Amino acid sequence: MSRGTLHLLHVCGARPNFMKVAPVMAAVETWNARSQATTAVGSSGAPVRFAQTLVHTGQHYDAGLSDVFFRQLGLPEPGYHLGVGSGSHAAQTAHVLERLEPVLLQERPHLVVVVGDVNSTVAAALCATKLGIPVAHVEAGLRSGDRGMPEELNRLLTDQLADLLFTTERGAGENLAREGIDAAKVHFVGNTMIDTLERLLPQARGGEALERLRLSARGYGLVTLHRPSNVDDAARLEALVVALRRIAEQVPLVWPVHPRTRARLGELQQVEPQQAGSGSAAPRLLLTEPLGYLDFLQLMDGARLVLTDSGGIQEETTVLGVPCLTLRTTTERPVTITEGTNHLIDPADADAVLQIVERILGREEDYIPCRPALWDGHAGERVVQAIADWFTIHEQRR
Ligand code: UD1
Repeated sequence: MSRGTLHLLHVCGARPNFMKVAPVMAAVETWNARSQATTAVGSSGAPVRFAQTLVHTGQHYDAGLSDVFFRQLGLPEPGYHLGVGSGSHAAQTAHVLERLEPVLLQERPHLVVVVGDVNSTVAAALCATKLGIPVAHVEAGLRSGDRGMPEELNRLLTDQLADLLFTTERGAGENLAREGIDAAKVHFVGNTMIDTLERLLPQARGGEALERLRLSARGYGLVTLHRPSNVDDAARLEALVVALRRIAEQVPLVWPVHPRTRARLGELQQVEPQQAGSGSAAPRLLLTEPLGYLDFLQLMDGARLVLTDSGGIQEETTVLGVPCLTLRTTTERPVTITEGTNHLIDPADADAVLQIVERILGREEDYIPCRPALWDGHAGERVVQAIADWFTIHEQRR
């Protein structure tokens, strides 16, 4: 590799990572194409070219949680697949550490890029840092304040290790400052997940998921649940299913079920929501397999409301202007409440959930799509420019 070529090694592992890494990889390709025509430069004027390698840890391995996303997002075939699979948090984290180390020793990248807050994120950041390889964290600084949430620990630790921290909202920079992280490392770039949404929304809108599921635009609600706090305890999950059934009496609900939740639902004998395709009348609570990115985006865009405990969906519904009821007591994405369409509701309070659903269904006027600062479809490009600048300074110091 020639001097002036910056080798990035991206690590992704679970469903919510794929839409965040894709725009960064695409922006690198654009940069390289441009640098062939002209000479793309870091802000200090030195030419920079990139090489990039993608590593898939295999934390998510089902076709429906992984392969379909690679295809639809246009991600390249990973250079390495670590095949870590499921397991306890310790086992999953340890397997990434163990299997990523030889890859990093062989590839010797200048920078490891990690995204989001899953176990693969923190494991890759730790593995690289221990080898003295700098780390960039895309989606840094988000904090729910709830250390009982596995992702919160992943976020805190990854940000302590990272050399470059890319934030999606201004509050994230304030969180990092409070934790003593040098402001020079922090770059407010916007939201790469929204880059992906922006790029693929026209294609999603032309899809046939609504027709296939016999749904009409604004005529249904969309549900996703997978947080351990909501689904791992049988009594809690059962109470949520009862609440969903009550909501479904007012508006039909579609629920693509995450494997974690599917396993727990199977344990609930008395709860038997209808499966997709069973019976001739459209069911009021329709369970489906996990959906691909384009189908899910079409469903989200057309929904009357969304009920979820996901992180990213709070942001996507904000941009789409679809009301989102987040069934959690905390959120790490406050801008979706202060500026967007998100409402935080304690999932243990079924009456409060019902009340807000009624309020939304009774509203005459539509919610308005909202774009928090820099959620403009160009975050990936800003990440790449900041990395090029960092590299130029880094090279000059060597
Ligand atoms: C993980 C992330 C979470 C993210 C979510 C999105 C962590 C701590 N959690 O949670 O932040 O929001 O992904 O989906 O990293 N399973 C399958 N097939 C798969 C993957 C998982 O059947 O392809 C099953 C396994 O039985 C596993 C369970 O789902 O035990 C949970 O998977 P895991 O990756 O541990 O966490 P998620 O709940 O998916």
